[in-house]
Amino acid sequence: MAQIIDGKAISAKVKAQVREEADKLKARGIEIGLAVVIVGNNPASRVYVNNKKKACEEVGFTSYEYALPEETTEQELLDLVNKLNADDKVNGILVQLPLPKQINETAVINAILPEKDVDAFHPENVGHIMIGDFNFLPCTPAGVMELIAETGVDVCGKNCVVIGRSNIVGKPMAMLLLHKNGTVTICHSRTKNLAEICSNADILVAAVGKAKFVTPDMVKEGAVVIDVGMNRNENGKLCGDVDYDACFEKAGYITPVPGGVGPMTIAMLMKNTLTAAKVKNGLM
Ligand code: GUN
Repeated sequence: MAQIIDGKAISAKVKAQVREEADKLKARGIEIGLAVVIVGNNPASRVYVNNKKKACEEVGFTSYEYALPEETTEQELLDLVNKLNADDKVNGILVQLPLPKQINETAVINAILPEKDVDAFHPENVGHIMIGDFNFLPCTPAGVMELIAETGVDVCGKNCVVIGRSNIVGKPMAMLLLHKNGTVTICHSRTKNLAEICSNADILVAAVGKAKFVTPDMVKEGAVVIDVGMNRNENGKLCGDVDYDACFEKAGYITPVPGGVGPMTIAMLMKNTLTAAKVKNGLM
């Protein structure tokens, strides 16, 4: 039977640490600011942005929200990013994805100053992550690494399987596991024998975007199962990529959805924003 990895409790610990450091900086006259930009009316994005603002309050950062209409042009968004790049009160810039189709996401990500890129999506930061010499880690994979660390399972030498190869989660996730000396396999929609590969994983990370994709035949007895999925089931209820109830008996450790990876992503965003402020003030 699995032990539940409590992302809510672990994220609260991370945020408390961030709060403590932020308070020390405040005592020295250093205020920390995060700009959160949302374009259009995607309801999921609205929820994420609200959660990010709430987390800023919890850790004592100032959040600056920019809610732009659906029909915003790429140039208008780039103008805002440039303004935020130049704004000394803004330590981190987060442009919530996805963006409306008239806006090229890559152009926007590339416009964010790497030192304010708290998502770690800019190619310069991606390069640093690849090399293993970084200030910022992408928030979701970094949060997953914290969750794995909490289990006490050492990644070194373990079979690690990541399902999904997105730039936001799958690819950087694989890299972080590799940095910890895991033997890493990335599976995706063209993978043959996916279930068999997954069933050999000591650490299985699902980032597919399909409810109940991971079934018990894909889970090794005692494995660490991390569910990055954020899907809605037929009743509109939030659920992950893992068939949680069915896999619970077989897994050694498992993350719930909600209450697993989601809160960690936000906690790591706070940590990255703190790092940006420390670097800017010559404290790192
Ligand atoms: N959309 C889904 N996940 C993320 C994320 O981590 N950062 C941003 N900016 N947008 C997202």
